[in-house]
Amino acid sequence: MSKISIEPLNDVPENLASLLLEADPSKKIVNGYLARADKFVVNLNEQQIGIICLIETRPETIEIVNIAILKKQRNQGIGGQLLQFAIDWAKKQKYHIIEIGTGSTSFAQLYLYQKYGFRPIYIDRDFFIKNYSQEIIENGLVLKDMIRLRQYL
Ligand code: ACO
Ligand code: ACO
Repeated sequence: MSKISIEPLNDVPENLASLLLEADPSKKIVNGYLARADKFVVNLNEQQIGIICLIETRPETIEIVNIAILKKQRNQGIGGQLLQFAIDWAKKQKYHIIEIGTGSTSFAQLYLYQKYGFRPIYIDRDFFIKNYSQEIIENGLVLKDMIRLRQYL
């Protein structure tokens, strides 16, 4: 497993801003939460290779609104380590619930989130049709619905 460091981030540099759009292609939605999010950067060999953003959505509930790893560094366990970091951090901050949402066509993400203890709670039907101006195709399917997952801390 790669040796990484994870640290808080105040301002998001351009390289990480474009990485955020790989997790969520809507600049409008990303800009809507970025300023008020808790943000952490992943470093590997002094290079910034990943980011995670969390926001408080209700009292005692925090949501991972964006997680992304640089393409050439994926599938080496780094995203999993970053998820575990966020879960541990949320526990330390005394949150009782951590949530995450992803597309119904995002098979790898759904696998990863369940591997790290998240369980589906409901489906936000037509979320991607209502909130995104351009059609999103993923794994050969048109993305329409968001699967919301939750973990009790
Ligand atoms: N089906 C099932 N599992 C898969 C598939 C697939 N098609 N493809 C890969 N996997 C598995 C891998 O085998 C690996 O599992 P393993 O560790 O048990 O072998 C796992 O998925 C990936 O785990 P990591 O390597 O820990 O994660 P990674 O560093 O690749 O980061 C991430 C995952 C952040 C989703 C990364 O792929 C990424 O940046 N993707 C683009 C942006 C994105 O989609 N972000 C999430 C959107 S939702 C949100 O932001 C709230
Ligand atoms: N992630 C994403 N896609 C995958 C994966 C994976 N891990 N593994 C295979 N696929 C894709 C294949 O690439 C193929 O897609 P493509 O045609 O676009 O390339 C697709 O899944 C499988 O399609 P088919 O070949 O048409 O289906 P198959 O003849 O394999 O039958 C079935 C599917 C019935 C689910 C078969 O795998 C099976 O009998 N499984 C065991 C029993 C089972 O699980 N049944 C369903 C339980 S739910 C129920 O019964 C209501």
